[in-house]
Amino acid sequence: MTAEVPVVSARSRRKDEHLDAAMATRPPEDEPTTFDDVSFVHGALPSIGVDDVRLGQVMFARPLAHPLYVNAMTGGTERSRKVNADLAAVARDADLPIASGSMATIFRDADAAGSFEILRKVNPRGIVFANINANCTADQALYAVDLLAADALQVHVNAAQELGMDEGDRSFGEWRPNIESICRRLEIPVIVKEVGFGISWNSARVLIDLGVSAIDVSGRGGTNFARIERYRRGGMAGRGFLDDWGQSTPEALIEIRDLCETAGVVLLGSGGVRSSLDVVRCLRLGARAVGVSGAFLSLLLHEGADRLSEVIAEWKYEITALFALLNCSTVDDLRETEICVTGGLRERLLARGIPIPQQGTHRITTEVGRKIDGLETR
Ligand SMILES: Cc1cc2nc3c(=O)[nH]c(=O)nc-3n(C[C@H](O)[C@H](O)[C@H](O)COP(=O)(O)O)c2cc1C
Repeated sequence: MTAEVPVVSARSRRKDEHLDAAMATRPPEDEPTTFDDVSFVHGALPSIGVDDVRLGQVMFARPLAHPLYVNAMTGGTERSRKVNADLAAVARDADLPIASGSMATIFRDADAAGSFEILRKVNPRGIVFANINANCTADQALYAVDLLAADALQVHVNAAQELGMDEGDRSFGEWRPNIESICRRLEIPVIVKEVGFGISWNSARVLIDLGVSAIDVSGRGGTNFARIERYRRGGMAGRGFLDDWGQSTPEALIEIRDLCETAGVVLLGSGGVRSSLDVVRCLRLGARAVGVSGAFLSLLLHEGADRLSEVIAEWKYEITALFALLNCSTVDDLRETEICVTGGLRERLLARGIPIPQQGTHRITTEVGRKIDGLETR
């Protein structure tokens, strides 16, 4: 008698491989990244304390307690169901939104749905984002959103990953019409996100015209799908043709923040976020909220869900402490803080003609207590 072997589609198997490959190709923790090119200027005399900091905001008409979310990762297999259950419990306890991994697999393998539905089951009242790829139709988008009773839909665009994957897509002509009809048909916000290569001004302009509510730049610097796909093929020797492709998260945020603000589109930051300081850097550079995938997954898989919860609690305190240190009560205040942009990021911005973020207007109080507002910064 042959034992019954569960049928696992190639797409679902790939999601399991991505978990291991993402861990195996993570950059070393102490390797500098573009985030290190953004530093804050220390003020020695803050006039507020941690109790004055208010990090809560309203996003997509829902209260957002913290400017942080667990970004898209997995689903589709038994193993990923367990990972999603753990991530959802951590997100629920920390009051953070959570995104599902790509749900496209359920349109080929209906049995895979449970590994995504678990996100809502474990976290019935939290903010949950469904996730599909840009090949999906508006009907499929509606189905995915219904399945999770999702608060928003992420549509990921991942051309570099597809082209670096043996079995990946080779043409993308359906993406724009699909995104447009998804935006038109859905009554909840549509977020278009990259998966680690960044979103440029020109791409953001197109997305805004297609009707998106939010853009998550998900830039280079953390999880690298060019390296992940190379790892899956067993070809890690040498450099791959896409290993250094794309814009870093700080570069992408700086490039599109004004465009998004003018268009009333919510800007989200993710890609390579390693610490509470990186979260605050993203917020300073224009993100309303910040997504983390690889760093949280690594903690979960290597040290367990309790440790991930502890680290998130530490980050929350540290984010509040950094706000107090910067004398900022809110995310809006933070936009006015003085930063210094150096190194490779400065060079890239200069080379591309993108204005280097200017510091907020200094407020200088003279010795006699006379306030001089509006003094131009250097
Ligand atoms: C194991 C793994 C699987 C992922 N799967 C998806 C996915 O299904 N859909 C998606 O939009 N992004 C996916 N991503 C990309 C992340 O959402 C994020 O954009 C990217 O990893 C950059 O963030 P990070 O550097 O914090 O990991 C995945 C990331 C990881 C680590």
